[in-house]
Amino acid sequence: MSSRNERGGAAKSAVFLVAALVCAGGTIAAMMLYGNITRRKMEAESKALKIVDITETTIDPAEWGKNFPRQYDGYVRTADNAKARFKWSEGRPPEEAEHAAQGGNPDSKKAESKLESDPRLKTIFNGYAFAIDFRERRGHAYMLHDQRETERVKQRPQPGACLNCHASNVVAYREAGLKNGAPGSLEDPLLSPHGQEQLFTGWEKVNPMKYADATQLVSHPVTCLDCHDPKTMALRITKPAFIEGIANLAKSDDPVPHLPSVEQWRKGDRAKPYDANAMASRQEMRSMSCAQCHVEYYFKGDEKRLTFPWHNGLKMEQMETYYNSVGWNDWKHKDSGANVIKAQHPEFELWSQGVHARSGVSCADCHMPYTREGAMKYTSHQIQTPMANVNLSCQTCHNYTESEIQSRVDQIQKRTKGQLDRAEIAVVELINAIKAAQAAGATDEQLAKARDLQRKAQWRADFINAENSMGFHAPAESVRILGEAIDYARQGVTEVAKLGLMPKAADASEKK
Ligand code: HEC
Ligand code: HEC
Ligand code: HEC
Ligand code: HEC
Ligand code: HEC
Repeated sequence: MSSRNERGGAAKSAVFLVAALVCAGGTIAAMMLYGNITRRKMEAESKALKIVDITETTIDPAEWGKNFPRQYDGYVRTADNAKARFKWSEGRPPEEAEHAAQGGNPDSKKAESKLESDPRLKTIFNGYAFAIDFRERRGHAYMLHDQRETERVKQRPQPGACLNCHASNVVAYREAGLKNGAPGSLEDPLLSPHGQEQLFTGWEKVNPMKYADATQLVSHPVTCLDCHDPKTMALRITKPAFIEGIANLAKSDDPVPHLPSVEQWRKGDRAKPYDANAMASRQEMRSMSCAQCHVEYYFKGDEKRLTFPWHNGLKMEQMETYYNSVGWNDWKHKDSGANVIKAQHPEFELWSQGVHARSGVSCADCHMPYTREGAMKYTSHQIQTPMANVNLSCQTCHNYTESEIQSRVDQIQKRTKGQLDRAEIAVVELINAIKAAQAAGATDEQLAKARDLQRKAQWRADFINAENSMGFHAPAESVRILGEAIDYARQGVTEVAKLGLMPKAADASEKK
């Protein structure tokens, strides 16, 4: 902090000096220009000013902040995103939204409960931990705290694998790897063969641990070291599950024109797996670094291996096909007995289906826009809703007024929410219909078809609910998915009605 102020002061006195020279007039204009250029050069260089030595073990973001004060400042302000959050939900009083998104202190309040704002979710998730506690997301600063505090962790046993996306864990994994026989030392660059072996060995050890034990190994939310190479500051992938997931995606034949390096790999001899760290372009990395966490996942087998279901492709039904092929169910629904799957934050996957991805627009382009300070251009590290900064996030490409852009987003989100409500109402009706038919004596065999339709409908509705842009990342794809959800749920209700056990099946619903 102090170093930043000192440098700010120095820059200011340089300005005063130049200003004084201008007053002296005449030939001095040329000098001023020169002075100005020098100052700008100095500013540009101060970007890489090295005050402290940053290494593969520098977890503490404050240390990095000494060299990169602007990025650190933004990073810290992710605790303070409340003011910025774009409020799509019509009619919600601003104080409430403010309260929902929180102020600076992670110990203060909790984020708004989704179960309270959308009570249908209690029925939809019945029998699963998400029916106990499910909240709105908030800034990166809270990720570790919120995971430790959720009732899903407090009331249900969870594995160490949960930590993958909620902590700075590169060093913790490597230390666990070294303890379990991986070669080398923490000084090895992460991307060296020894570094990678340490990372993967430790990761495999930590995943199946008890959450309470595993969480002792970490102390920070995602930090600089998880996204950047400490020597070059280049973006790099540090999460093993993404390394495996994207390599599996590359092996599929799902077209991914928005990931040109994957398309390129497919044309080669495929002798070595696709490796984002070696092959991805800088622009691809500006999305892939987020895709380490903002993706659908499950924990595979007793080893609780964090796995992204991209083996057939990134589309909603390709992931469903994968889950069906390995016989995966998240849980058995308490009311209906259906084996169901739940989606979690598929931002990368939905973005992949939209026009922005197709046009080469990355996550960082919108969520981490360039900010200018004098001659200095830097990346905003206050990762948040782009609607807090329409000018920097959108108007660089879209030549419309801010209010026009806001209203287009609004329209997309309201349309999506309208269809989402219909889809959830239909799913709840189906659940209640199956429940009533069971009570009236229907057998598992008779209910198989309706339960399968519930699985399909619920996965689709939840996919859009769990995705955090309310349709924006791919508007047409979102309403397509919700249309299918409504259709499958209605087909399910019809299947139950056909059994003839339940003349009043539809009345058992919560429909008003
Ligand atoms: C290590 C995993 C991880 C990585 C990498 C990551 N995120 Fe997040 N992100 C999270 C988690 C977890 C939360 C929710 C934290 C909470 O609610 O406590 C979150 C929240 C967010 C939010 C919501 C902020 C708010 O104020 O509500 C945005 C926007 C976001 N991330 C965008 C991004 C972008 C863009 C990138 C890539 C530059 C990225 N994230 C990289 C895990 C990650
Ligand atoms: C693949 C990465 C990933 C893994 C693994 C993961 N999370 Fe998250 N988690 C995220 C992201 C991204 C968000 C923010 C977006 C959102 O809330 O949908 C989030 C949000 C959350 C939140 C805040 C919102 C809420 O759902 O109440 C909690 C709590 C949470 N996760 C707990 C867990 C637990 C418990 C586990 C292990 C069962 C886990 N996470 C595993 C990526 C992950
Ligand atoms: C073209 C711009 C754009 C791109 C590209 C983009 N997003 Fe978004 N994103 C948005 C908008 C707009 C919203 C809705 C914000 C709101 O409702 O306030 C949003 C919402 C989100 C949210 C929830 C934000 C919050 O404040 O809670 C997350 C998380 C997120 N995006 C992650 C990502 C990730 C990860 C990627 C890349 C895979 C990505 N976005 C790509 C524009 C973009
Ligand atoms: C979730 C991932 C993520 C985290 C965490 C993160 N960064 Fe970045 N950072 C980025 C992205 C994305 C860019 C843009 C890189 C590009 O365009 O090549 C960037 C760019 C930078 C740059 C290059 C100059 C600039 O502003 O564009 C510096 C320096 C930097 N970050 C420092 C930091 C520091 C210091 C921290 C920790 C306080 C940090 N970053 C945390 C994703 C991250
Ligand atoms: C780097 C450039 C870039 C940025 C930044 C950008 N867009 Fe776009 N946007 C595009 C392109 C390109 C298209 C596709 C236009 C076409 O091909 O006709 C597009 C399309 C759209 C559309 C059409 C609807 C659709 O199908 O998705 C909307 C709405 C939109 N953008 C809103 C936004 C908003 C809101 C932001 C800021 C959060 C944003 N854009 C940021 C380049 C950008």
